Amino acid sequence: MAIIEAEGLKKIYSSKSGPVHALDGMNLSVPRGTVKALLGPNGAGKTTVVKILTTLIQPTAGTARIDGIDVLRDPKAARRLIGVSGQYAAVDEGLTGFENLEMVGRLYHLGPRESKRRAQELIDQFELTEAGNRPVKGFSGGMRRRIDLAGALVIKPKILFLDEPTTGLDPRSRLAMWGIIKDLVNDGTTLLLTTQYLEEADQLSDDIAVIDGGRTIAEGTADELKSQIGGHRVVVSLVDAAHAGAAREILGRHGDGEPGIGGDGRTVEVAVTDGPRALQYILSDLGESGIDLHDAGMRRPSLDDVFLTLTGHRTEDVDEATTQKETAA
Ligand SMILES: Nc1ncnc2c1ncn2[C@@H]1O[C@H](COP(=O)(O)OP(=O)(O)OP(=O)(O)O)[C@@H](O)[C@H]1O
Ligand SMILES: [Mg+2]
Repeated sequence: MAIIEAEGLKKIYSSKSGPVHALDGMNLSVPRGTVKALLGPNGAGKTTVVKILTTLIQPTAGTARIDGIDVLRDPKAARRLIGVSGQYAAVDEGLTGFENLEMVGRLYHLGPRESKRRAQELIDQFELTEAGNRPVKGFSGGMRRRIDLAGALVIKPKILFLDEPTTGLDPRSRLAMWGIIKDLVNDGTTLLLTTQYLEEADQLSDDIAVIDGGRTIAEGTADELKSQIGGHRVVVSLVDAAHAGAAREILGRHGDGEPGIGGDGRTVEVAVTDGPRALQYILSDLGESGIDLHDAGMRRPSLDDVFLTLTGHRTEDVDEATTQKETAA
């Protein structure tokens, strides 16, 4: 049975320029002990879902249950089951890492001794030992993220919500954070995380819901989503833009569907089934036609590709789409 369940969630915010339809009938179901990723671009409604499920705001319509508890009727009981790490680290800048965690323990009535013990345990687990006694205001972005996540774990929640846990982190800190999250999940915590990165959803989650404009537009495992939009992409960058038409014809021969030409007029790209093989044929045909290349290679589908295929627009267009909806409302 699902431990997180939401049906028909709607959220309309009022703003100066009129109502904003942030959620437009969203359904969500997360089985116990699994990881669900909400994958979507800026403004898709990710934070709004997390805020509703964690009782921080109320939906305009719809229902949500956590471990059978109605979060709207009984927010206090729901709060006892969950830990939240928000999109913007919620730490007290003036306090040390250790003091921040200790304070969370006290807020949850753990008692002074247990609060200290748990704070130290988390400081060690998150490898913040040497930083633990420094004020948070001197922490790097990655350290802030870790102390914030540690704060969400003080009471060992059954269900954890992480809103964009690695946005803004450098690749090394992102990998470290992934390791921490994977350990938590191995311990049986149910996790709902939001992200803008397909790779992150792929690494961490059992199941992905792609959201756009406040509704779920696709669901499945990372592999299922990627196979919906084809395997690899072959991308070539031409020395001379005048060859774009000829290159397009060659890529079309070995790819699935119509090749696209990038905004620079010199990058040509196509989805392919067997990446390495298609790349070989394409390079050979381009060479025979005397078309010189700056660069050539394969890449995996990105969030942009998923979006383009599912919605017909790129992720950058989403803000515009939302604005149009706002004006229409
Ligand atoms: N308090 C608010 N008042 C008015 N509009 C809001 C408010 N909070 C969010 N919105 C709007 O609701 C929509 C969804 O916002 P939300 O923060 O849930 O998106 P998100 O997917 O978390 O985006 P991001 O990736 O940028 O964090 C956006 O159009 C946003 O501008
Ligand atoms: Mg957000």
